[in-house]
Amino acid sequence: MPNLQLHDDRDIARASTLPAQLYFSPSTFDDEKSRIFASTWQVVGHVHQAANPGDYFTFDLIGEPLLIARGDDGILRAFYNVCRHRAGNPATGCGNRKLFRCGYHGWTYRLDGALLVTPEFEGVENFDPRDFGLAPVRLEEWFNLIFVNLDPAARPLRDCLGELPAQAAKFDFAAMKFSERRTYDMNCNWKTYIDNYLEGYHVPSVHPALNREINYSAYTVEPYPHYVRQWTPIRGAQPGDTSPRRYQQSGDERTADYFWIFPNWMLNCYPDNVSLNIILPLAPERTLAIFEWYLPAKDLGSEAAQKALAFSDEIQVEDVGICEIVQKNLHSRSYHSGRFSVQQEKGVHAFHQMYRDLMA
Ligand code: FES
Ligand SMILES: [Fe+2]
Repeated sequence: MPNLQLHDDRDIARASTLPAQLYFSPSTFDDEKSRIFASTWQVVGHVHQAANPGDYFTFDLIGEPLLIARGDDGILRAFYNVCRHRAGNPATGCGNRKLFRCGYHGWTYRLDGALLVTPEFEGVENFDPRDFGLAPVRLEEWFNLIFVNLDPAARPLRDCLGELPAQAAKFDFAAMKFSERRTYDMNCNWKTYIDNYLEGYHVPSVHPALNREINYSAYTVEPYPHYVRQWTPIRGAQPGDTSPRRYQQSGDERTADYFWIFPNWMLNCYPDNVSLNIILPLAPERTLAIFEWYLPAKDLGSEAAQKALAFSDEIQVEDVGICEIVQKNLHSRSYHSGRFSVQQEKGVHAFHQMYRDLMA
């Protein structure tokens, strides 16, 4: 791995971007799994996926098989979905169960993870089933989202969110209903996608339609210790401009806010919808972007909802296009690392600092 400290400069005016090889090296990817993804809060779903006792779903968190289940006591818990016998699968897919029975030899666990049945295990010595329950994983909920953290000593999720809950409060995300999920399989490193997300510098060139809806000259980037907020006033209809516009009104209170929380999830907040992005690394140069749209209940299935979704899909397709070009070019023998715009790339610089702090 290149010496991260060599390029580490906390002053954006002097700093360089992360070295290109960190965007494709397999050993960096393995390091990131343990240093970053196994120690940060990760979104795995929404409470609607496990609303009732016995409801469960499984989730692959960058190679770690997880099981999220609501117990008879109403408590939502997370476990490694790995049987304590010989590592079979206690659960598959999603659904509702009274018990989890491993598909290999039939060890059976309660919804709270306790081991209940071990067929044909008479005569085994020094074996106490209480020591062989499903291994628990920390779980917290916020805004109806379910988070896990593989690090038992991690700080509480709320500590990492800082001022974000107050900043996002005006969007009333908690009252919005799940509308649709789409996934985008992208040929780029997860950081290529995050870098791109963290600046509005590319909006005029890459997103002409989005650029017409926002006030680019007022685009503001605010880095915080564990997240970055980007926001822009919405540009309503302008006098003499008859072109169709998503939002007719503008005003101080009408903003589009884009929150990215280290390392890999985002909330995109508009007056009429909020979308959640989860950016899951699959391989050094393959990344899955999961998009979920949430709308006020009255708008579910409406034409306006379809338009909002089509609009964000168009932006995403443009972003994937540029990220895949960049990913290919990062391999060029001509390119090693770049520089930051002090005005426009504070968010990318903040991400690279957070990254260096955990990886150095
Ligand atoms: S591996 Fe699960 S019962 Fe054997
Ligand atoms: Fe973009």
